[in-house]
Amino acid sequence: MDVPKKRTRRSQAWFGRDGKDGFLHRSWIKNQGYPDDLFDGRPVIGICNTWSELTPCNGHFRELAEFVKRGVYEAGGFPLEFPVMSLGETQLRPTAMLFRNLASMDVEESIRANPIDGVVLLMGCDKTTPALLMGASSVNIPTIGLSGGPMLSGHFRGKQIGSGTGVWQMSEDVRGGKMTQEEFTAAESCMHRSKGHCMTMGTASTMASMVEALGVALPGNAAIPAVDARRYRQAQLTGRRIVEMVEEEMNLSKVLTRAAFENAIKVNAAIGGSTNAVIHLLAIAGRIGVKLELGDWDKLGSELPCLLNLQPSGKFLMEDFYYAGGLPAVMKEIARELDLEAITVNGKSIGDNIADAPNWNREVIKPLAEPFRDRAGIAVLRGNLAPDGAVIKPSAASPHLLRHKGKAVVFENIEDLHARIDDENLDIDENSIMVLKGCGPKGYPGMAEVGNMPLPPKLLRRGIRDILRISDARMSGTAYGAVVLHVSPESAAGGPLALVKNGDLIEVDVPARRLHLDVSDAELAKRRAAWKPPPAPQRGWFKLYVDHVQQAHLGADLDILVGGSGAGVSRDSH
Ligand code: FES
Repeated sequence: MDVPKKRTRRSQAWFGRDGKDGFLHRSWIKNQGYPDDLFDGRPVIGICNTWSELTPCNGHFRELAEFVKRGVYEAGGFPLEFPVMSLGETQLRPTAMLFRNLASMDVEESIRANPIDGVVLLMGCDKTTPALLMGASSVNIPTIGLSGGPMLSGHFRGKQIGSGTGVWQMSEDVRGGKMTQEEFTAAESCMHRSKGHCMTMGTASTMASMVEALGVALPGNAAIPAVDARRYRQAQLTGRRIVEMVEEEMNLSKVLTRAAFENAIKVNAAIGGSTNAVIHLLAIAGRIGVKLELGDWDKLGSELPCLLNLQPSGKFLMEDFYYAGGLPAVMKEIARELDLEAITVNGKSIGDNIADAPNWNREVIKPLAEPFRDRAGIAVLRGNLAPDGAVIKPSAASPHLLRHKGKAVVFENIEDLHARIDDENLDIDENSIMVLKGCGPKGYPGMAEVGNMPLPPKLLRRGIRDILRISDARMSGTAYGAVVLHVSPESAAGGPLALVKNGDLIEVDVPARRLHLDVSDAELAKRRAAWKPPPAPQRGWFKLYVDHVQQAHLGADLDILVGGSGAGVSRDSH
């Protein structure tokens, strides 16, 4: 009878067999030159690689994977690298976020369907991190993260320029007549000059920090530049450690606990992290089975200070952050706020990992007693305009706009915004509130990063750099401004945002956490009766996504993907 020799490891259900099945599983892999002893029951480590030339932030991942393999071999494991769908933030249309859940399905099923005992996740560009963590969470085998690291700092005409943030600033300067198109083009090669992901505290750096704060990566993961030799050393150590994790049966759920998520939310405040982390952490928690709600972000993080003087809110870049001590230094500063017992992938607690973390530059990483910004965490607003919540990052907003009442200037969708924003006759001033519809999970579809709407040139010429903006969209982590995002439910799902009309009065009161549309219930009911949903996609992934995507306050995961199916070995293929 064709009985597995040893089932102590998943991979042995493939490789540890006699008969034709064992032959099939081993023989074809051996065509790559692997000797017999690699199939002897040692841990098989999958290296989940998001390398792609269309994801330039992850363009160095094949090289990085080689260092992971070194570590796996050194520790007595058998590494097998596999590709999954990669998501390049700057290239994918209509938005990379539309494909986060699709990539997570690829990751989940690739791990489960293959002879893998433990997995290393190679993550970099914005959506690759949550997609891989979501997919791996739904399988729950020993898992360790390795971020690709940020690019070196951008430099242009004697000044540091940061990914994204510099683009938004300079493009407003071009639109406001302060910079020529030639100068703007010249900045392109100066901003991005090395391998790695965006080097501001945008979504990629935020998510790399979240990975470290959650305890899913070795200490130091977030900030080591992509081209620094120590990033490759980190890769090798990661390879060694995953083999031990398999021996210790340290599944991902042992690390991704409620305490880990609470720590991550607090760290997000301390680093001035991206609002995108809200959606991604909610989605990851949903997969691993940890109860986490939008309100937790406000409860746990909103009162905490930001210590990090990094763009987009501050001055410095990720390279400076690494030289100053990186995330362990920030976590040590806020140690009294953290659950120091939370266990991490190296088998030690967060408290152990940060115990001796030095802060080498207190201009970059401010001490807790003199923070860079007070009360810097994400605030959750609610009211008749966002019954299920909306978010704002007060530290990135002009303080005078945090309590504001103004008339709505409504854009029905992104095309309407693009068509009219440069119109000199647009009826708008600095007290207006820009409202953008149709950009939520179902509406765009995919919840695009368009919430930081460009300002009208006529206001820019007057030196106005911020006005209140409200939408069901997301915002790039590299952007800034008084921007209310993730309004839930979204307009395309019939949320109250769909009913706002030009000239309606809207009240935003961040200290009171209020977002109110000053229109009577009777008038809103009349508008609702006349509202028609937008046409829905009819085929393929777009249809599956729109039919099943949940709203932003739930993490915008598909309802059919919440939770996991575990690591069970399915029936034979032959
Ligand atoms: Fe990839 Fe910013 S575009 S991290």
